[in-house]
Amino acid sequence: MSKNPVLFNNTVLRDGHQSLAATRMNTRQMLPSLEKLDSLGFNTLETWGGATIDSCLRYLFENPFERLRTLKAETQKTPHMMLLRGQNLVQYTNYPDDVVELFVKCAAKAGIDVFRIFDALNDTRNLVTPIKAVKAAGKKSQGVVCYTTSPMHTVDKLARVALEIEEMGADSLCVKDMAGLITPPAAYELIRKIKKNSKLPVCLHSHNTAGLANAAYYAAIEAGVDQLDTSITPFANGTGQPDTLLMQALLAGHERCPNYDTKVLGDLQDYFTKVYEELHEFTSHANERIDADILRYQVPGGMMSNFRTQLKEQKMEDRLNDVMKEVMYVREAMGWIPLVTPTSQIVGTQAFLNVKMGRWKMLAQPTQDVVLGRYGRTPGSINEELLKKVIEVSKTQPIEGRPADALKPRVETLRKELEAKNLPTDDEHVVMWAMFPQQVEALYAKRDAAHGKNSDRQAATVTGAAPAVVSVPAAATSQSFAGQVVSRKKMALTVENNRYEVVVEEMQ
Ligand code: CO
Repeated sequence: MSKNPVLFNNTVLRDGHQSLAATRMNTRQMLPSLEKLDSLGFNTLETWGGATIDSCLRYLFENPFERLRTLKAETQKTPHMMLLRGQNLVQYTNYPDDVVELFVKCAAKAGIDVFRIFDALNDTRNLVTPIKAVKAAGKKSQGVVCYTTSPMHTVDKLARVALEIEEMGADSLCVKDMAGLITPPAAYELIRKIKKNSKLPVCLHSHNTAGLANAAYYAAIEAGVDQLDTSITPFANGTGQPDTLLMQALLAGHERCPNYDTKVLGDLQDYFTKVYEELHEFTSHANERIDADILRYQVPGGMMSNFRTQLKEQKMEDRLNDVMKEVMYVREAMGWIPLVTPTSQIVGTQAFLNVKMGRWKMLAQPTQDVVLGRYGRTPGSINEELLKKVIEVSKTQPIEGRPADALKPRVETLRKELEAKNLPTDDEHVVMWAMFPQQVEALYAKRDAAHGKNSDRQAATVTGAAPAVVSVPAAATSQSFAGQVVSRKKMALTVENNRYEVVVEEMQ
C-alpha cells in the first residue's frame, strides 16, 4: 500500500446511472449494494443531487429526502456527496438566497457531508451563498471549475477561477469535465497549475465518452491530483465515469495506486449488471461505446443520453447530427458558455428549436434569460444579432449584477402555498415545492389514490406508494382519427382512485 494513494469518489448511485440510464435507478435497486459500497473505504459516495432529485419526484415517485436518509442509514462509514448547481440548486433557474440556504440546511440534515458546488457559467458570484450555507451547516464544500474548451477557457483563466473559489472559503476543489473533453496533457497542465497555486485537495471529474478519461486521470495523478471520480460497470465508461476496477488495474505498480478490494468490486459489478438489465428501457448502446464525435460537439454524457431519448420520442432520431451542429453554433452565440446543467439543456433546447423552426425564430425563455445576464456573466460576449432579437422580444435590457440580488426572499410565500394546498409545510417540502411544485402535487395525488383517501397528509410517508398503472397503447388512441400525428405527450389521469397513463396526440 502506497503512502499517498489517490482517493476515489464513487459515483454509481448518482452520475453513473444519470449518464448511462437516464437517472432511473430507484432506491430499491440501490439498497442491496450499500453494505459493500460502504465497506470499500471510498473517499465519498456521490448519492444525491444532479438530476436524481428531479428523477425521484418526476419518474420514480419517491421522496428524494427519504431516499437520502435510507441510503445514509445503510452507509454510515463513508461520507455522502451531492452535486449542487450553485444558485440553481438542482433545477434550471436561479433561486433566492433564502431558498438556497434552506435547501442546503435540509440536505445537510438528511445526510449530505460534502457539497460539490458548480456554476454553469463559472461565475463565482453564484457560489458565494451556497458555500456560506454549507459552512453554516457544519459540512464541507467542494468548489467546482467547469472545464470546457473554447477561446474563452484557457488553462490560466480556469486556474484563476479555482483560486477565486479557494478565497471564498471552499474546503476542496474539483475540475468538472462534464463532457469528457479533457486530454491527458490538458489535465496535467491544469491540475499542476491549480495544485501550485492552492493548498486545497483537488479532484478531477470526467466522463469516458470520447475514451479520454482513463488516460486523463493518469496524467492528473502525475500532476498531483488528490481525488478522482469513478463508477462501477455497467454504470461506468461510455458517457459515464471510468470504472473503478479498471482504473485501479491501470495504476497497478504506480506509487499512488489505491487498494480497493477487487473481490468486492467484482461482486458489485455483478449486482449492478442485473440492475442495468432491469433498466434496459433507459439504457442505450450508443451511450456505452466510445464516441469521438463528442470532441466536435462537446456535449456532456447526460445531455447526449437525454437527447437520444428526446429525439426518439419526437421521431426525429435522424436529425441528431443537425441538432448537434446547431448546439455548437448556439453555444458560441451565447458567449461560449460551458455545456453543463442547466446551460446544456438551454443550449440543447434552443438548438433543437432552431433546427425545427429556423434559427432564432423561436427564443425559449431560458435562452433569453442567459442573454440578459440573469444566470450570470457569460465567458464571451453574446452574438449581436441574438442580443438584438432578445432585447426586442423581451423588451428588457441585460443586467450586470449578481442575478440572485434581484430576487426577493420566497421561503415564507412557499410555505403558505403548501398550506393552502393542504400539503406538508416542513422545510423539506418548502424546498421541494420551490423547485418541483407539479411533481410534489402529483406525488401526493398518487399516494392519496393508493391509499384511497385524501387526508392525514402530514403523518404519512410517501416513499414507494405506487398504485397499479394501466398504460393505454398509443396505437389504440389514434385509430379513430385521420391525419398526421405531430406530437405525442404522456399524461397521467386519475379516475376514482385509479391511475391511468394515457398518450395524448396532437394531430395536423
Ligand atoms: Co458528470
